[in-house]
Order: sequence, then C-alpha cells, then structure tokens
Amino acid sequence: MLIAANWKMYKGPRETREFLDRFVPPDGVDVVICPAYTSLHAAVESGRTVYAQNVHWAEEGAFTGEVSAAMLVELGVQGSIVGHSERRQNFAETDETTARRAEAALAAGLGVIACVGETEQEREAGETEEVLRRQVGVLPRDDGLVIAYEPVWAIGTGKTATPNVAQEAHAFIRSLHDTEVLYGGSVKPDNAAELLSQPDVDGALVGGASLDVDSLTAICRAAIPS
Ligand code: 13P
Repeated sequence: MLIAANWKMYKGPRETREFLDRFVPPDGVDVVICPAYTSLHAAVESGRTVYAQNVHWAEEGAFTGEVSAAMLVELGVQGSIVGHSERRQNFAETDETTARRAEAALAAGLGVIACVGETEQEREAGETEEVLRRQVGVLPRDDGLVIAYEPVWAIGTGKTATPNVAQEAHAFIRSLHDTEVLYGGSVKPDNAAELLSQPDVDGALVGGASLDVDSLTAICRAAIPS
C-alpha cells in the first residue's frame, strides 16, 4: 500500500523540516512526500522517500521555470508526479506532455505517479471511460510508473468518490494498464479505510489532508489491513 502526500504549493523548507521531524508513519505502508521544489532538499535530508510534483522531459535547455529529471536525481529525489489535473487545467499540460515527462523521468531512473481523471462535466456526459482510455493510453508501460485516479470533481471539494465509483474506475484503468492505481480526491482520515479496502485501490494520493502530521499519520494507519 502506497500513501503519497501531494503538498502542492504549501510548506517551505522550515515547515517541511518541522513536519518530517514529527512524522512517524506506521510500519507496513510506503510513504512518499511530494513537496514544492524549494522544499525538496529539506525533505530528502529527512531520509523519507521524496517525489517532485512535476519534471521536464528535456535533459537541459531554455525552459524557464522547469526542472529536469537529472536535477532531481542529483538532489536525491526518487520520482515525480506528472499530469496532475491542476497542471492540465491551469498550465496547459496535455496527454502528450504528460507522457513525455513520464518517459524522461523513467529513463533517468525516477519513479512516476501519473495522474488521470475526468471532470464533472465529462462524468455527467457519460465520457469517463473515453477520457480515461485516452489519458492512460499514452502512458509508458514501465514498472516504475503508478497511476493515480483523481476525478477532478473530487479534488479539494470534499466530494470524495464513493468506494464503488472509485473501484469501478480503478478496475477499468487496470484493464488498460497493468500497474498499481492510487486514488486521489478528498481522501481524509475518516474515509481512507473504506476507499483503501477496495480490491483495485492500491493506495492514495492525498492533498489537503496530508498537510497535517496527525491527519497523514491516521491515513497511513487506515492503509494497513486490520
Ligand atoms: P485533495 O486531497 O485536497 O482533494 O487533493 C487531491 C489531490 O489533488 C492530490 O494530488
């Protein structure tokens, strides 16, 4: 079971150190911390597994504001999220650029959490499977890649997918790509156990509820089968 904490644009190096000094996850669960670029070094120093929130496909070049896989490797970072819906919606990320980022990260030896998921409009229009087929179809087949199913309507909204809805989407994704599938979207200590007990839910990608030590610890505990 894998619990990944996506801290988005929260926590500078000081808060990162304070959090990780206090954070003691239970045995039996793999934890990945995904801080902002400027907090990666502080997070790596804690000895935890650390992923970035994005990575560029080029080795180097005139790409202002971007960071390469080699730069992350040099820092001791072990992987990266790619294709998060906030990047797709606000920063023109596409299926194609997501795939290029994933390929470059894997080639550099990094792990990848590739995010997919439909919007509310797409779900209501009955297009969920079509969207997932398109988003998953471009992703590389590689042992280092896991997929995070993050329905856009469930991110930061408090509207979690029901365990059945999550299970159905995860099973569909797994029929397209033989890999672990994490669920993301308003995962909280009080809904984590039920979501994580679904047969095709292999872990969680947690946003808001990962910013508090006690809350992230509780979600990690919920990931251990009783
Ligand atoms: P929330 O857990 O805040 O809904 O965010 C989910 C997410 O986007 C994780 O990548």
